[in-house]
Amino acid sequence: MDETALSEMSTIDQYVVRRATYSDLPEIARIARVTWEATYNETIAPENRREFLERAYKPENLADGIDAPDHWFYVVETEGKMVGFGHFLRRYHPTRGRAELVRLYILPEYQNRGIGAALLKTGFKALSKAGIEQCFVSVQSTNQGARRFYERHGFTYHRTHGQFLGTQIVTLVEYIRDITQTDTVQ
Ligand SMILES: CC(C)(COP(=O)(O)OP(=O)(O)OC[C@H]1O[C@@H](n2cnc3c(N)ncnc32)[C@H](O)[C@@H]1OP(=O)(O)O)[C@@H](O)C(=O)NCCC(=O)NCCS
Repeated sequence: MDETALSEMSTIDQYVVRRATYSDLPEIARIARVTWEATYNETIAPENRREFLERAYKPENLADGIDAPDHWFYVVETEGKMVGFGHFLRRYHPTRGRAELVRLYILPEYQNRGIGAALLKTGFKALSKAGIEQCFVSVQSTNQGARRFYERHGFTYHRTHGQFLGTQIVTLVEYIRDITQTDTVQ
């Protein structure tokens, strides 16, 4: 292994994935604003982004996901600074344990360092222990980086659907991944 790869590995070791708390919510909203701007500036109109973020990331609207059964809401920190978050929740199904990854955002300058992978791994482990059998995620069809990322982590195409976002309709690709016993030990 060359020197660069080794130094990147030790950097990754310094990242801490932990459960989100109420006091994290304003910083989670800030990270969402920065990362949405970088990710969706060409595909989602500014006013639609702003309205969605104001509503979806209002601390009182996120609070249900904290310390709640059937929610697995994580933040990642390095050097005492939060750099990303991921939120899984149980999705109702009468007979099968199903969950959805509803948000996963890493600050642009911290992407491509293995943080997203670490967050997924932590989440899959918790889902597996909770008896979840399948995890879904929906991603904007034009978001090639995220689609490749999910495909690399075992998600496969399930369906394409549209969703209103303010004054526009966004095309989303829904992926599905089996959660297995292997995820418990990884
Ligand atoms: C998609 C996203 C969550 C992935 O998180 P991430 O931390 O960048 O993901 P990782 O670093 O684990 O993996 C990303 C790539 O970096 C590469 N990588 C991982 N560790 C690395 C390292 N130490 N050095 C260099 N490259 C590395 C991986 O090969 C991977 O490539 P791939 O995407 O082709 O599979 C993140 O990029 C993000 O927040 N994007 C913008 C918002 C978004 O699209 N969110 C998803 C909405 S559904």
